[in-house]
Amino acid sequence: MKKSLIVIDDFYEDPYKVRQYAFSQNFNNPSYVTGYPGVETNSLEPEKIKHIAKRISSIIGKKLGWPPDRPQGVFRVLQKQEEKTQTNLVHIDPCSWTGVVYLNLPEECRGGTSFYQHKETGLKVMFPQKNPEVQQAMVKYNLSYHELSAKTLKDTLDLSKWDEIERVSMKFNRLILFNGGKFHGVPRVFGNTLATGRIAQIFFFFEIESIDEDGNMTIPV
Ligand SMILES: [Fe+2]
Repeated sequence: MKKSLIVIDDFYEDPYKVRQYAFSQNFNNPSYVTGYPGVETNSLEPEKIKHIAKRISSIIGKKLGWPPDRPQGVFRVLQKQEEKTQTNLVHIDPCSWTGVVYLNLPEECRGGTSFYQHKETGLKVMFPQKNPEVQQAMVKYNLSYHELSAKTLKDTLDLSKWDEIERVSMKFNRLILFNGGKFHGVPRVFGNTLATGRIAQIFFFFEIESIDEDGNMTIPV
């Protein structure tokens, strides 16, 4: 059976130092996701990403890659006032593994990450396209991948259209790794300032099926 959710506690040796580093960076509105309400830093330095990717790769037991032009290892802050404007409440991240490191201090921790099942279609996952659950639904509804995707994502803002099927609680310095294609969201946002909001570090990794001699990777779709 393929693992799709892994929880690792005490991920960083010195999480206070990581927090300090995060808050020494500039936080901006990300331009690559339309309507995303939070703020985030730029990608981590390539050397740091490589080091973390190696650790995560040994946890998962797979070779991992990431497109260099996409954000990686960013620190993201969401605040209470953004809760109502969260345009991607239930969503997927099109990657093999999403990594989230919770970096709120122990006394601040609440909520976490929730996973959902779409009531209308029964889907719990929407990526990759070759996922058997996705393939079966395409046949059942006689829809293309794009059409099926649209059928689920139209309900992204309406929690009444989803069942929460799993929740990982937030814990300081906890890393969660999950198939980015699982429908997921942030169940609770808090804090009124950058320093007291929900802060997490986010990674998006792909399992690499092959790397050619020029170092180009084939990413499964
Ligand atoms: Fe996500």
